[in-house]
Amino acid sequence: MAGEDKGKKAASGYHQGSVETIISVEDVNRQAAALAKEGVSAERIASLANNDSYVTIENLRAGYGKMEILHDFNLQVPKGKSLCLIGPNGAGKSTVLHSIFGFTRIFDGRITVGGKGNELDVTSLSSNDKLKKAGIAYILQDKSVFPGMTVEENLWMGGYLMDKPEQAKEAAEKVFAKYGRLAERRKHLARVLSGGERRLLEISRALVMDPEILLVDEPSIGLEPRFIDMVFEILDDLQHGEGKTIIMVEQNAKKGLEFADIGYVLVSGETAMAGPGDELLADPEVGRLFLGG
Ligand SMILES: Nc1ncnc2c1ncn2[C@@H]1O[C@H](COP(=O)(O)OP(=O)(O)OP(=O)(O)O)[C@@H](O)[C@H]1O
Ligand SMILES: [Mg+2]
Repeated sequence: MAGEDKGKKAASGYHQGSVETIISVEDVNRQAAALAKEGVSAERIASLANNDSYVTIENLRAGYGKMEILHDFNLQVPKGKSLCLIGPNGAGKSTVLHSIFGFTRIFDGRITVGGKGNELDVTSLSSNDKLKKAGIAYILQDKSVFPGMTVEENLWMGGYLMDKPEQAKEAAEKVFAKYGRLAERRKHLARVLSGGERRLLEISRALVMDPEILLVDEPSIGLEPRFIDMVFEILDDLQHGEGKTIIMVEQNAKKGLEFADIGYVLVSGETAMAGPGDELLADPEVGRLFLGG
């Protein structure tokens, strides 16, 4: 191996396509962990949310079984704003969304929704109640549509918690009115949809319940660039057009940080860095570790 190639490894995950990069995945983890040592203060978390938090996670310790994945994790995002979590594989990003939606074991801490003086403690609500009573929707990471059902039936499934089936159908019509592309395919089986259309269906199904808060795990995963742009345009409209609050995880750190008002870098279950999305995007450390720059 020539001298200049030393230490080069083919890495994947944070880069589009397979390219040779100087930093190996192990190095990213080690260097990111070093960043985490400094931590991020509670004041910083609050000020990034303009001291006007709507979805708030306080001192959360959560995981699966006996295993604690998130350690003293804090998060704040104001109503109608977006927050993106980036970080290495296994950092616990999805676990944050799982915790908000009620899929983890919570050892300690609190999750609330609503502005000051109007908080609803959702820490131990069931997932159904999170959706029905707290207006939180979780958009699954891929492969969650029912392939043997039509597009329209898939949307109706999104309203399964409504009291009457007619309500779900009505709500589905509102979604169809907004997304013509989906309406054109309403009688098609979900299995024949393209990857981008399937993602649109996954997002739309979550919208049937008209949630206030969207938890989105890796919206761009597995999509070709034009569909990635489409998905981010839809999310942009949901935030800026409809005032939804969005908390997302994105492996494509550039897209995620460009989109989000607030960004957190999660490393080993702790927040290593936090800042406005565009500032994190411009940060040389973030660039080096997560943007392949
Ligand atoms: N359902 C589960 N049961 C047990 N352990 C889990 C479960 N889901 C995740 N874990 C573990 O929790 C840790 C954090 O996983 P998580 O999925 O939150 O990471 P992530 O940051 O989303 O990673 P990725 O970028 O690969 O999606 C990992 O060690 C993982 O193995
Ligand atoms: Mg994940």
